[in-house]
Amino acid sequence: MSKKVRLGIIGCGGIAGAHLEAYKKISDQVEFVATCDLNAERAKHRKEQYGFARSYTDYEEMLSKEELDAVSVCTWNNYHAPASIAALEAGASVLCEKPMAMNAKEAEAMIEAEKKSGKLLMIGFVRRFGENTKFCKSLIDNGKLGEIYYVKTGCIRRVGNPGGWFSDKKRSGGGPLIDLGVHMIDLARYLMGKPKVVSAVGATYDKVGIRSNVKGVSWWKSMDYDDYNDVEDIAVGFVRFDNGATLVVENSWTQHIKESRLYLELYGSKAGMQMEPELEIYSEENDYLTDIKPKIDLNSSSFSGIFERQIAHFIDCVANGTPCLSPSEDGLELMKILDGIYQSAETGREVQF
Ligand SMILES: NC(=O)c1ccc[n+]([C@@H]2O[C@H](COP(=O)([O-])OP(=O)(O)OC[C@H]3O[C@@H](n4cnc5c(N)ncnc54)[C@H](O)[C@@H]3O)[C@@H](O)[C@H]2O)c1
Repeated sequence: MSKKVRLGIIGCGGIAGAHLEAYKKISDQVEFVATCDLNAERAKHRKEQYGFARSYTDYEEMLSKEELDAVSVCTWNNYHAPASIAALEAGASVLCEKPMAMNAKEAEAMIEAEKKSGKLLMIGFVRRFGENTKFCKSLIDNGKLGEIYYVKTGCIRRVGNPGGWFSDKKRSGGGPLIDLGVHMIDLARYLMGKPKVVSAVGATYDKVGIRSNVKGVSWWKSMDYDDYNDVEDIAVGFVRFDNGATLVVENSWTQHIKESRLYLELYGSKAGMQMEPELEIYSEENDYLTDIKPKIDLNSSSFSGIFERQIAHFIDCVANGTPCLSPSEDGLELMKILDGIYQSAETGREVQF
């Protein structure tokens, strides 16, 4: 690679910080050209913090004035599609945060723009870049689990609605399912070998609410916190795939449970695997049951570690045409699953694809 990749970022809030720290790690390959945020102060702060040349409050203006090779889209979910499409049309490759869009229809329009532009649209399925994910994937690809026919996953919180735009449906598209469920369902589907969804059944409940009244414990809150809330507290789903495998998923931001929990379990014909909360493989050797606990440095799957690898991979794809590990078609398949669960919750019927 000879020339530096000219970088822009749209949305300069919390997760933008993780992207920018990771770009900083490879600053020999990246030219920090422009930041953009609706909040001028925030755009300017990120510009100064990371040495960008200019800052903007309107991404259309930024894209028309700057020649960018790569753009990170880190806005509220409702701008993922319009900002990514605008960046692709302006000739830049895009790394769009999860969820890809508000729904599958928007995701399709983004893929259309990607195809027309000849540029890359990568989706921020950052957990694919964990060392633990890499280990699980290699084991599965080598047939250690046999045929994976059933997966159970969830991320459930006792209290943890982030508020702000996250709990405002017109900006987020939904609650814990579209926020937390995206990571868990993508990870499950990625490890299962990316089967296609054929049907989904789901239910959502909003019986408890945002609980901004709770004292004595703290939880992660959105940068621009307010307690407006019109999204679900909890979503449960049952998904069938074209290879006959099924997935059960549950996600909540608030639920009267003992403690918050994150889990991912995959069941195969030869072995079972618990990837979260702790990596273990359950199998049989010489007619004895075995539990295998791989030794993996947890730092290599840390929050900053996975972002560094994701961003380095994005720049490698842009600069060198390396095939993308989290392409747009995977984002679309995920949006179909989320649409299916939400639609089924509304209608009380199974959604078929
Ligand atoms: N990969 C992960 O683990 C992870 C973690 C957190 C958030 N996210 C995703 O990242 C995105 C941002 O989340 P966040 O936590 O950083 O939110 P945030 O509220 O901290 O930041 C979002 C920023 O986007 C700006 N913005 C919104 N619309 C804009 C527009 N049209 N043009 C320019 N700026 C705009 C807002 O002003 C705000 O500063 C969301 O899609 C979220 O789902 C991903």
